[in-house]
Amino acid sequence: MAHSLAFLGSGRLGSAIIRGLLAQKIYAPAAIACTSKSGATAAKLAADTGIVSEPDLARLLGPADIVVVAFKPQSLASADPRLAELTAGKLVISLLAGKRLARLAQVFPRARNVVRTMPNTPAAIGAGITAYCSAAPLAEADRSAVERMLGALGEFLALEEKHFDAVTAVGGSGPGFVFEFIGALRDGGVAAGLPADIAQRLAVQTALGSMKLLAHTGATPEALRDQVVSPNGTTYAGLQVLAHAKFRDLIRDTILAASKRADELSRD
Ligand SMILES: NC(=O)c1ccc[n+]([C@@H]2O[C@H](COP(=O)([O-])OP(=O)(O)OC[C@H]3O[C@@H](n4cnc5c(N)ncnc54)[C@H](OP(=O)(O)O)[C@@H]3O)[C@@H](O)[C@H]2O)c1
Repeated sequence: MAHSLAFLGSGRLGSAIIRGLLAQKIYAPAAIACTSKSGATAAKLAADTGIVSEPDLARLLGPADIVVVAFKPQSLASADPRLAELTAGKLVISLLAGKRLARLAQVFPRARNVVRTMPNTPAAIGAGITAYCSAAPLAEADRSAVERMLGALGEFLALEEKHFDAVTAVGGSGPGFVFEFIGALRDGGVAAGLPADIAQRLAVQTALGSMKLLAHTGATPEALRDQVVSPNGTTYAGLQVLAHAKFRDLIRDTILAASKRADELSRD
């Protein structure tokens, strides 16, 4: 059986998608083929999963109906010019951070449609959230193929491209800000006298438990925060410090800076 899904790039994100698709039995191993620059990551992934490693671009793309672009964004400028013809009539799904649909259309001008996605790093364990948009309205079968694929990474949402810089800031960079906060929570525990390993464990499990509670209850963060606060208690004392330091303004400026940078980086 010839493959129907081709991956250009077999690194962290590409392999996370492939492993998810196989685990959920959405595709059989023989239906997926991949390549990588040196061939080494593709060969290893193929050996691990049973998918096909195909270094020849024409043989990789020829039988495929869907092509997933999973190399680094900076590789787009030097991408093989044969991609324009070899993706004619196919659905192209790009994972490339910051590459707009207009830019992708220059590289894949004859694709039947081009989809831009913005995943985030928790996708590696199926706990991500990915936004997607398309150059033209998606045919129903193509939408379902895109959503089955993104479902292997966690949650997904269809969103107009004009929102992608903000999505990049909140969803893409967001894990970096969350980890920074958890590191600060740990360091605060150390400043209050805890051994570093205990502070780390408390900070991580407290964050994890709080996130689960948030997702489980569907309540707003503010409502759950208020359940922790008692008048003039310990949480109140800490929140007063955050309010005086204008914590919310700081995080808003953090997101705006990341969004502005996403706009700058996607202007090529
Ligand atoms: N990791 C994430 O959570 C995440 C989140 C959001 C967006 N993304 C996007 O996902 C894409 C992949 O990221 P990653 O973290 O998976 O990168 P990665 O682990 O570095 O993998 C990149 C893969 O692309 C291959 N490659 C490089 N140039 C190529 C070319 N010209 N043709 C075919 N394959 C080529 C590499 O091959 P070699 O190993 O041989 O060099 C490697 O298999 C990026 O565009 C990134 O913006 C990733």
